[in-house]
Amino acid sequence: MIFETHAHYDDEQFDSGREAILASLPDCGIKRVVNVGSTIESTKKTVELAKKYDFIYAAVGVHPSEISQLNEERFAWLRELTKLEKVVAIGEIGLDYYWDKEPAVQENQRYWFRRQMELARETNLPIVVHSRDAALDTMQIMKEAHAEEIPGVIHCYSYSPEMAKEFIKMGYYIGVGGVVTFKNAKKLKETVEEIPLERILLETDCPYMAPEPHRGKRNDSRFIPYIVDQIAQIKHIPPKEVENVTWENALTLYKKIVNTV
Ligand code: NI
Repeated sequence: MIFETHAHYDDEQFDSGREAILASLPDCGIKRVVNVGSTIESTKKTVELAKKYDFIYAAVGVHPSEISQLNEERFAWLRELTKLEKVVAIGEIGLDYYWDKEPAVQENQRYWFRRQMELARETNLPIVVHSRDAALDTMQIMKEAHAEEIPGVIHCYSYSPEMAKEFIKMGYYIGVGGVVTFKNAKKLKETVEEIPLERILLETDCPYMAPEPHRGKRNDSRFIPYIVDQIAQIKHIPPKEVENVTWENALTLYKKIVNTV
């Protein structure tokens, strides 16, 4: 059984084929999916998907690159959404300095990262962190916010093994997706080797980040077995063990999801 912890099935790339793909997931062993909001609109659609499919759950939040969309009114709306039974996390939230180089924009990212973390604390939900080209600021802000008291995952992890261990010390999980299958993904392979399986979550970030041999194409959760096999190879364990342990990890993190499988 596979727990997909990070998907974007609301994305327009799924406008053709969405229903057929989603309907096929349980039979392909994908028994749980957390769909993750990145904008106000995608958060809305995420909540709708969670209402429609019993195996889909929702993370609500605004991505750092979309942070200009956020204001007090919309923040209050996010808070309301957390009361829904199938809203299981705040995300994706964080910092992305890759696209945004403007100091004022980066300051705004930090501001709403802090606010959305506070919301998670207040509502007793875990956070889904997106962090790109911003390792030190992410770590510093999380330390200041006492993020060790807020559970969460560093999704699509792209930093060093040492940094991963720092996040793990704070109680965080490390999200591993298609990138781990890329030949040039030396750092991520090392990270997977050095951290315990008990701290790894499986994710696609679909429609992005398709694993080999589908790199560059539209991704979906049915490709997760390629990620499982790669992790199993790196750790010299059977693929089933990767599935089982990461399944338990996800249930521990997303504690609003009751295990009925
Ligand atoms: Ni994402």
